Parts: sequence; structure tokens; C-alpha cells
Amino acid sequence: MEVRFLGHACFELAEGDTRVLIDPFLTGNPRAAIAAEDVNPSVIVLTHGHGDHFGDTIEIAKRTGAPVVAIVEIANEVAEEGVQTFDPNMGGTVKFDWGWVKLVPAWHTSTTPKGTVSNPAGVVVSLGGAVVYHLGDTALFSDLQLVGKRHPIDLALMCIGGHYTMDSTDAVDAAQLVGAKTVIPCHYNTFPAIEADAEAFKSDVESATGSNVVILEPGEAHTL
Ligand code: NI
Ligand code: MN
Repeated sequence: MEVRFLGHACFELAEGDTRVLIDPFLTGNPRAAIAAEDVNPSVIVLTHGHGDHFGDTIEIAKRTGAPVVAIVEIANEVAEEGVQTFDPNMGGTVKFDWGWVKLVPAWHTSTTPKGTVSNPAGVVVSLGGAVVYHLGDTALFSDLQLVGKRHPIDLALMCIGGHYTMDSTDAVDAAQLVGAKTVIPCHYNTFPAIEADAEAFKSDVESATGSNVVILEPGEAHTL
């Protein structure tokens, strides 16, 4: 599987003909690696409704026909636009012919740009035999460890920027709890409020845990 970081918390997971696009905030993202009109996902997955995650979801889904997987309240809002949706709730799994997407808890808030309130989530994606856990926006909390107990995590996509989420110090504890083989940090250095030192995070995680940290600049990819 190829994992491409598109900036902020946006990633595309690709295996064969399947492209899973998570949290497509591209328009208005000062560090976006690609324009919204240049992505061509098979499916779009949302962790929560904040604008820096919901982003270009509607435009991309309408243009490409990609269905949107989001927690039920957000899925209902998206469906009103005539977009195909899957509407799990926390703990629910949506199965596809290529794998599955599961919503797990995150400690944060969530309101869409149109005002739909829901719980925020993390998302676990199984694609090509690999399990990827995008933590979404979250604080550090002990139940992060339950996700990896149930589904050993090959790759964790982890916010480290602080202010709106856990910072790069709390994220070291999160990495310990998740226990992924590889961690890619995200949700930092997009805006002044969320500046973080990813190299320090990498060194802290690699000395305190068994995880390897891969730092990607927007536009760069990592192959699992
Ligand atoms: Ni958020
Ligand atoms: Mn965010």
C-alpha cells in the first residue's frame, strides 16, 4: 500500500485501483500538496466535521462519484447534496470489496461548516492486508490502546500539533498506547497555532516505543 500525505490531516491510501482519501482539506490549506480537482478517490472517509477535515468533500464526491464514509450525522448532511454515503456510528464497520472502514472514538469536538454537530472519530482502514489507524483530531486518552488490541496497527496517522489536539509530547504516549509498526505525524505546521518539531517527536517515539516514525512533507509518499 502506498500512503501519500496531502497536507494537514489529509492522506490518500492506495492499493491497486483503490484509493481511500481521508479528510480532504485542500482548498484553503496553505500546505496542500494537490488541488481538490486533481484527486480521484474511490472513497472518501471523514474523521469529523471541522472545516480542516471536511474540506472539499462535497466537490470531490460530486465530481468523481466517490461515496463518503462518515459518522451518521455528517453522512446525513452529505447525502442531502445527492452524494452516496455510508453512515456508521462509533464502533461500526463498513465493508467494501477491497477491505473495510471502522469508526473508533476520539476525544475532540465536531461541527461541520454547515453546523451539523456530531461526535468526532478516529478511522481504522483495512486495505491490501494492512491496517491504518488515522486518529483524527484527539487528545491523549487511555482507550487509544484498545484499537490496536483488536486490530494490530501497521500504520498510525497521528496529530501532533497541539492547541486543537494533543501535542507532540502527549503524542509520544499515544504512540506507546497505539503500538503501530510505523507512525506518520500530521496536523502540525499548517498554521502558526500548531507548530511542532516532528524530528523531536520522531526521536522521542523511537526511543520510548517500538514504533518507527516516518516524517512526510506534503506530497511525499511512504510504501508499507
Ligand atoms: Ni477538529
Ligand atoms: Mn483539525
